[in-house]
Amino acid sequence: MEKGYFTTEDSAEVVASRNVHANDARLRDCMGVLVKHLHAAVKEMNLTQDEWMKGIAFLTQTGQICDDWRQEFILLSDVLGVSMLVDALDNAKPQGASEGTVLGPFHVTGAPELAMGADICLDKKGEPMLVRGRILDIDGNPIANAKLDVWQANDEGFYDVQQKGIQPDYNLRGVFKTGPDGQYWFRAVKPKYYPIPHDGTVGKLLQALGRHPYRPAHLHYIIEADGYQRLVTHIFDPDDPYIHSDAVFGVKESLMADFKLIEDPERQRDAGFDGPYYDVEHDFVLAPA
Ligand code: BEZ
Ligand code: FE
Repeated sequence: MEKGYFTTEDSAEVVASRNVHANDARLRDCMGVLVKHLHAAVKEMNLTQDEWMKGIAFLTQTGQICDDWRQEFILLSDVLGVSMLVDALDNAKPQGASEGTVLGPFHVTGAPELAMGADICLDKKGEPMLVRGRILDIDGNPIANAKLDVWQANDEGFYDVQQKGIQPDYNLRGVFKTGPDGQYWFRAVKPKYYPIPHDGTVGKLLQALGRHPYRPAHLHYIIEADGYQRLVTHIFDPDDPYIHSDAVFGVKESLMADFKLIEDPERQRDAGFDGPYYDVEHDFVLAPA
């Protein structure tokens, strides 16, 4: 039943009741929930006209920053923890499967497919690292033909796409396919923490809230295999100074990897390095489709 006049007390119900003829039931229900909580928030905050106009100006500027390359609204969703929440609800994984985390804006499609063991660091800058592990099913069996799409920031905390002309294109990116043993391994350099883009409205908001814009050092993975759920995830350096305060809340206990510095010359030689390197071993378990 549509309710007629607007009252402060019944405000949310009056608005929701106006939507009863919506064609899309899901839209109607979601808008009802949104309006209910939005009105409750306005009442709880005792919002002034001035503050509401400041909020509108913030959202307007956020939209104005967006283009084909920059998505300030996703960044806003990230720093509010909404991206992680939606991921957790929509991509819930069964017990024993690897957990996912945010995709972020720096994935590039079309990275080169490389042979296992290839070095994805094209400019040789940074501390050498060997990343290895297995892609397994939930029973511990290796998954053959799994596709790993990996990308990371360099040792100064920049992705190649942020430093066109400074880093080579596709620096620190690669696509790998597992063999029958499910193993993967590639060479890279130890990544560094970096700030999310903070020259826009989201950066201003973080500053006003006394928050830093940094993400702890990590490697990104998208792992796909026939018959399994796609996994979008990272591994993190647990010793990173920002590991407990990721600006976008992407860190999970299960995504910590051990970055072991290998100083033994024999191991260095066996692994094909001529000096110290970081050894990072991490297995991923894919959930069935
Ligand atoms: C990233 O890890 O690449 C990222 C994720 C969320 C926001 C910004 C960057
Ligand atoms: Fe990242």
